[in-house]
Amino acid sequence: MLAVQSVQAQPAYKNQNEPMEHRIADLVGRMTLEEKILQLNQSAFGENLNPNNRSEKVGDIPPEIGSLIFLSEDPVLRNEIQRRAMDKSRLGIPILFGFDVIHGMRTVYPIPLAQACSWNPALVSQAAGMAARETKLTGIDWTFSPMIDIARDPRWGRVAEGFGEDPYAASAFCVATVRGYQGTNLSKPNSIAACLKHFAGYGMSEGGRDYHASDISAQSLWETYLPPYEAGVKAGAATLMSAFNDISGVPATANHYLLTEVLKQRWGHDGFVVSDWNAIEQLIAQGVAKDRKQAGLKSFQAGVEMDMVDRAYSDYLKELVDEGKVSMDLINESVARVLRVKFRLGLFDQPYTTTVAESERYLQPVDKIVAAKLAEESMVLLKNEKEILPLSSKIKALAIIGPLAKDKANLLGCWSGNGKEQDVESIFDGLASEFGTRLKLSYARGCVFDGEDESGFDEAVAIASRADAVLVCLGEKKSWSGENASRSTIALPVIQEKLVARLKLAGKPIVLVLSNGRPLELQRLEPMANAIVEIWQPGIAGGTPLAGILSGRVNPSGRLAITFPLTTGQIPTYYNMRTSARPWGGKYQDIPTEPLYWFGHGLSYTTFKYGKATLSADKLTRAQKLTVQVPVKNTGTVKGAETVFWYISDPVCSISRPGKELKFFQKKEINPGETVVFSFEIDPQRDLSYPDGKGKRLLEAGDFYIQVGNQKLTFELVENLRSTAAVSAAAIGSQIKAKTVKD
Ligand code: GLC
Repeated sequence: MLAVQSVQAQPAYKNQNEPMEHRIADLVGRMTLEEKILQLNQSAFGENLNPNNRSEKVGDIPPEIGSLIFLSEDPVLRNEIQRRAMDKSRLGIPILFGFDVIHGMRTVYPIPLAQACSWNPALVSQAAGMAARETKLTGIDWTFSPMIDIARDPRWGRVAEGFGEDPYAASAFCVATVRGYQGTNLSKPNSIAACLKHFAGYGMSEGGRDYHASDISAQSLWETYLPPYEAGVKAGAATLMSAFNDISGVPATANHYLLTEVLKQRWGHDGFVVSDWNAIEQLIAQGVAKDRKQAGLKSFQAGVEMDMVDRAYSDYLKELVDEGKVSMDLINESVARVLRVKFRLGLFDQPYTTTVAESERYLQPVDKIVAAKLAEESMVLLKNEKEILPLSSKIKALAIIGPLAKDKANLLGCWSGNGKEQDVESIFDGLASEFGTRLKLSYARGCVFDGEDESGFDEAVAIASRADAVLVCLGEKKSWSGENASRSTIALPVIQEKLVARLKLAGKPIVLVLSNGRPLELQRLEPMANAIVEIWQPGIAGGTPLAGILSGRVNPSGRLAITFPLTTGQIPTYYNMRTSARPWGGKYQDIPTEPLYWFGHGLSYTTFKYGKATLSADKLTRAQKLTVQVPVKNTGTVKGAETVFWYISDPVCSISRPGKELKFFQKKEINPGETVVFSFEIDPQRDLSYPDGKGKRLLEAGDFYIQVGNQKLTFELVENLRSTAAVSAAAIGSQIKAKTVKD
């Protein structure tokens, strides 16, 4: 009797056997307006270390609040807060705990821009899955990641957080990361909800100045900035975050077209959108709201379901409903979206985090292995004059110099979660463990990151003079990229360049190691270095992978996911620009116009020879596919991984297309002497169509080019193959006849 009675007494939303949508509807139907509004609010718990977001001292948090940014590492504390929500609130709705896990929680992986240079989505996904496990065990169910803003102005500090300049690459790594975080089922123990951010166009902040206006044409919005978001939504990303910037005068956080027409009506997203920190109130500064009440109205009506720390919703939504300015339908629909994510995460049925000792929660051996592997594959050999790398066995003494030689904290990069300096392996330590007694290592800092103090130069030059080669470790502080970290120049401080110039006088080979969160201006440094290794900000495990590259144990396989301009003055310069009306003209009068390193650049210790690329046909209709293949041979003496990039060009269209667009890539290991065939199946709808300014896909017959390596093949998309079909059928027929006869 009791069992039956308890089932009957149990409301549907608490019954795991009820369909989720029924549970949501049942719960929404039971909630008061006040309870509904609180579900649409997020506050911060703990002290926010992000200096840009002054978090008010958190007062008494209502147990009915929808979400908390959890700025603590203590899962027990998190469970106590959750228990209060489950037991003290009338309906027992679990809180959704969120945090910025951008490239790791405590095990810190390379910054996302570095991860993209690995061209290994599977490895990126694996790392995201490991980060999700640490995150969940910390008590956090939701990460504000991946950041998928396309950035082509490296003066903007947040270029470090994204996957570079290309929409297709960013889409691939977005999907890999979402799948890593969310797994196949959000309610699984190690799954956390993803958040695609910052929706949208944030990377176009004018002049690289963070938070500034973004002037984006409808055409650019659809062909450049939206594709990673569409891919992420299709991959099932649970949430999105609305951006700070405006889009040609309409702030993203009040942009109904973006947040409702595109995201909800066209893409069918059924999760929710959270505003970025204070982005609702910021509508006042952006000139579209006279006060917080109007700001709240505009963002809620635009399609922002959850208010991050503004309290605009908790302060004004009830008033706005009473005034008839906000409908109960929209309130109910918004609450249902938030509840849907909580149900999908299983929070109603398992609201508490499993608590394990920190030693079991963080820095597991397998996590560190993946962190090192991802760091290794993301490092890019930019220059290797006379193959000075890997270091010859004739080199017995190596001077390790520079502000980053023994530095740890700055290798973590921006947004390093709960990463700790103590966990980081420095460059020096990595080399010491790799080379042991084989190489006599000496060290001098030489200079600090910036300023004018050259007092360390003499010592540095002295040890360089006594060594057989010099490793100069330069770069950026972690605070020089990330949020609100715009720089007027992407050159390193002059003091660092002066150090290299002085070291050059010692007359020893110089290997330049760079740790940075953005492309750098290397115009003066590049000629002084015999070799350059870009290690980005590799997280906790960068020392040994770099040492492996220097020793030759690792054959570098990273390729740039973002172009390195020769100088700041070339910005913006990226590989998929539209072609000029006068390709012979439009050059700078005072500097070269070519960037130093293009997107896709990266050297190896072996050589790869591309054989003849072949097409399965030279014509196809919209309904057909066409396969292009290229054999790649490792013509060197060591194993290496090659990434083959496939670019499509469409020379004549109704709307001019970029000169070429990446449509597929594959990375494969190839043994010395081995040939591996890479192939790409072209699907016209996916690979040959393009969006217009309304997002309508256009697929226009005509000639196309497919580029791979230094080869460019052409094929034609035809309306129908009737005439051509007859010809090819006859041709095939004759071949078959010939074949039959011969047989
Ligand atoms: C910040 C960032 C955003 C982050 C949020 C919460 O201002 O713009 O990326 O997720 O606030 O920390």
